[in-house]
Amino acid sequence: MSQPFLHLPVLLNQSIDHLDVRPGRNYLDGTLGGGGHSKRILEKSSPDGKLIGLDRDPAALTAARENLIIYGDRVLFFEGNFSELAEIMAGISFDIHGVLLDLGVSSPQIDRQERGFSFQGDGPLDMRMGKSPLTAEEVINEYQPAELKRIFWEYGQERFSGKIARAIVKSREISRITTTGQLTGIIKSTRPEMPTKTLSRIFQAIRIEVNDELGSLKKGLQAAIDIMVPGGRLVVLTYHSLEDGMVKDLFRQAADPCTCPKGLPFCACGKKPMIKILNRKPVLPDDDEIVQNPRARSAHLRTAEKL
Ligand SMILES: C[S@@+](CC[C@H](N)C(=O)[O-])C[C@H]1O[C@@H](n2cnc3c(N)ncnc32)[C@H](O)[C@@H]1O
Repeated sequence: MSQPFLHLPVLLNQSIDHLDVRPGRNYLDGTLGGGGHSKRILEKSSPDGKLIGLDRDPAALTAARENLIIYGDRVLFFEGNFSELAEIMAGISFDIHGVLLDLGVSSPQIDRQERGFSFQGDGPLDMRMGKSPLTAEEVINEYQPAELKRIFWEYGQERFSGKIARAIVKSREISRITTTGQLTGIIKSTRPEMPTKTLSRIFQAIRIEVNDELGSLKKGLQAAIDIMVPGGRLVVLTYHSLEDGMVKDLFRQAADPCTCPKGLPFCACGKKPMIKILNRKPVLPDDDEIVQNPRARSAHLRTAEKL
């Protein structure tokens, strides 16, 4: 048995409703984690709907295999990045009626200190979800000061980005920074009272860089639309305003791709809408869910239907 995978699926009922899961239909969970959402998809698509479960993290796949064992060969597991959905789907011959992307990290990824995602506790500066060519240690010790500042500002929206980047550079001139504890200490040294949200933003920004999360999302959204049958639903859960903004913009472009000048009485570019947006405003967790699961508090759910 692997370590228990303690992760509460976020906006579970709403995700399943938006996916419109029906008996005998097939779905793809591109961020399988421990299989919390997938379990519900499999229950509702029984008796013979299939599920493709994909995750870039081998530890998540191990947990999901145990959690979903009772569904037998209805589940196909893949280790990989959802940005490569087209390649992963090349060997699949059945239709896909819906795709779920529940972005970000799972609770076990954050809670296991040896993964290096958290500023609480101490662990190696790693932060790789899967086979990323880059580690957090390399980002922190090898990036130019301006690059560090840009990451903290763009991905963390942290206003003390420059000061924190300078403190990191000063410290690494003395010795290499190799642990989350060292990094936390350096960030804390830049202000007399360091708010937790600054630590959280800086760690999140490094994680986004290490795993190229925005690059994967951009490719993954298009690939998810491409692999579904018409009428298929794409449900995306984000936990960061940059990601939510990206989903919103890409949905808008896919729903209205026409590039003709405004005022032209007919469409000359010939670009056809690929999706219909089902909720203009994102679905958010209610207060009860946030009390039960504080990690749900920043969740935004958006859904589109393939035309
Ligand atoms: C929030 S968790 C998903 C939890 C899952 N819905 C559940 O209920 O157990 C996000 C998962 O997505 C995976 N992940 C993040 N980005 C990915 C990507 N680009 N490709 C594949 N998996 C990814 C992470 O490794 C993590 O296991």
